[in-house]
Amino acid sequence: MNAKGLDVTKKSDRAAWLKGGNAICSNPPSKPAGRIWRLVLLGAPGVGKGTQAALLSDRLGACQLSTGDVFRAAKCLGEGERSPALEAALHYMVRGDLVPDETVLGIVQERVRCLRCCGGFLLDGFPRTVAQAKALENLLKKENVPLTTVLNYELPLDQIVARLSGRRTCSKCKAVFHVTNMPPRVKGICDHCGGELIQREDDRPESVRVRMEAYEKSTRPLIDFYQKRGLLVTIKAEGSAEDVYERTRVLALAQ
Ligand code: AP5
Repeated sequence: MNAKGLDVTKKSDRAAWLKGGNAICSNPPSKPAGRIWRLVLLGAPGVGKGTQAALLSDRLGACQLSTGDVFRAAKCLGEGERSPALEAALHYMVRGDLVPDETVLGIVQERVRCLRCCGGFLLDGFPRTVAQAKALENLLKKENVPLTTVLNYELPLDQIVARLSGRRTCSKCKAVFHVTNMPPRVKGICDHCGGELIQREDDRPESVRVRMEAYEKSTRPLIDFYQKRGLLVTIKAEGSAEDVYERTRVLALAQ
């Protein structure tokens, strides 16, 4: 049990989000005793959104809904099992380009029940364009589930590059490690499920450059979008993951 009485040993496999359709999560979140958090995590690639989403999920009980994880999970399907849109999305992703809004919104719409989850949600990597943010706004209004806060993480470029180049991700449960900053207990093996740790294809330098350009052009404008709606909290992402979590807690969660 964690400090909030949540049993973090029973982590959900997020099947409803990762697989879509009628998939049912193992150990779905239960309604928290306190506030239900519905957060968006914004920030450049490699700033540490996924790492913070995992900590926030353990401590607040809300599920991490990462669009990038949906695409990576689709990669593990056989070629015949992927829709043409998903197949095309994987090509965009490997290059570092944004997947077209239409595809991303179709995927989110298919999983709209995750936005109604009684444990709340942590949107990680979505929305990424103003069109996606507007569509999310309409969707949440229709579902009557307002956003609590948008967490905007910021980090100097040299530290982002160091985080991305050393990142390793579990091929099975998608947990994130870093070769020096957050190494696994056994080299190359996931602490949580024993899966093999791999380097993401889009962490190659040429893809990272394209991802940073896409962030500057398409995602940075969301800072202004959410600022105008009074939802934005900007957090420095320097220091250890626990330092960043503590800053998040003080600035955004302790109200
Ligand atoms: P996505 O999976 O969303 O990737 P991203 O936004 O580029 O973010 P990352 O996962 O690279 O970084 P992160 O900020 O989560 O950092 P992490 O915690 O891993 O998207 C991938 C692709 O999918 C996109 O390029 C696009 O093609 C497509 N896509 C997805 N969503 C889309 C959308 N909505 N629209 C269009 N296209 C979409 O940390 C990085 C490393 O740093 C790790 O090794 C970690 O261990 C380490 N680290 C983290 N925090 C710290 C710390 N405090 N101190 C030291 N090390 C740390």
